[in-house]
Amino acid sequence: MGLGTWAWGNQLLWGYEEGMDGELQELFNYAISKGVNLFDTADSYGTGRLNGRSEQLLGRFIAESSARKTDDVLIATKLAAYPWRVTPGQYVSACRGSLRRLGLDQLALGQLHWSVAKYAPPLERALWDGLAAIYDEGLVKAVGVSNYGPRQLEKIHTYLTERGVPLASAQVQFSLLSKGPQQQDIRDVCQGLGIQLIAYSPLGLGMLTGKYSATGQLPKGPRGLLFRQILPGIQPLLGAMQAIAEERTKSSVSQVAINWCIAQGTIPIPGAKTLKNAKDNIGSLSWSLKQAEMDELNSLADKVPRAMIQNVFQTS
Ligand SMILES: NC(=O)c1ccc[n+]([C@@H]2O[C@H](COP(=O)([O-])OP(=O)(O)OC[C@H]3O[C@@H](n4cnc5c(N)ncnc54)[C@H](OP(=O)(O)O)[C@@H]3O)[C@@H](O)[C@H]2O)c1
Repeated sequence: MGLGTWAWGNQLLWGYEEGMDGELQELFNYAISKGVNLFDTADSYGTGRLNGRSEQLLGRFIAESSARKTDDVLIATKLAAYPWRVTPGQYVSACRGSLRRLGLDQLALGQLHWSVAKYAPPLERALWDGLAAIYDEGLVKAVGVSNYGPRQLEKIHTYLTERGVPLASAQVQFSLLSKGPQQQDIRDVCQGLGIQLIAYSPLGLGMLTGKYSATGQLPKGPRGLLFRQILPGIQPLLGAMQAIAEERTKSSVSQVAINWCIAQGTIPIPGAKTLKNAKDNIGSLSWSLKQAEMDELNSLADKVPRAMIQNVFQTS
């Protein structure tokens, strides 16, 4: 299955408020008008009383847009490996719940949000069977995984292949701040096995946008704490990104970060909560990085002193 050529991550976890729906809908319509054709969400996005809210909103936006008719828009969701989902049947029910919230009969991509191999290994096989079941039942066109490391990725690929289920994608944190040996290994495994790598948090949670500096105002909560640790060490990288952006008209640091991910063969899913940010990010489609620029960015990124925090569920 061909995945989208460009995508929008729809996590809606940070700073989401009910009053934002109108702008998010405008953002969705703008994105599809510009050829963005893959939208990533998850059944766990939206917390507390907003549980499932991201899928519900996307469902409403699709229903009220032209997307449904043209079939041009691919919706990818991630099904959580919650502790109460321990059988393939429960995983199938979870997928049906996502389809209901999204108002769809079939998903383009159903992804296992994380592996339980690190803390409940006996349950991992049931999740793999659940993934195969949603494919066999035609609830999804393709299946993928998220937060899988290279070795676990090879194992599930072998297992699903033996069951006649193609593994289409692997979604991991991948950016100029998350490009260590493990990411490179995952990228190589994906290339070797024909799995599409999807890059989440391609803007380093916002640190690779040029919007934040070590001495300026930082976001509230844990994101701010993380930024305080990492931003001081990435000034040379941000400076080079700014210089690359300035050589093009209407370009930006965010576009450089996104284009670096595209040049690595990934499909980046930048999160954007405002139309202004979405327009900026989509601008990256109009240009690409030169090899010398890639070399400079890679060299500076390798010198960043503090490593980016990784998902606790990320396996080896
Ligand atoms: N599979 C997983 O476990 C997993 C985990 C995390 C994320 N994801 C997926 O990846 C998507 C994106 O990741 P993410 O939101 O964590 O990180 P990200 O894309 O690296 O950063 C997004 C943040 O950067 C800021 N931003 C975006 N565009 C900007 C622009 N043009 N100029 C200035 N600031 C801009 C916004 O934050 P502010 O406006 O607040 O600064 C936005 O919330 C999510 O929506 C989700 O679909 C998946």
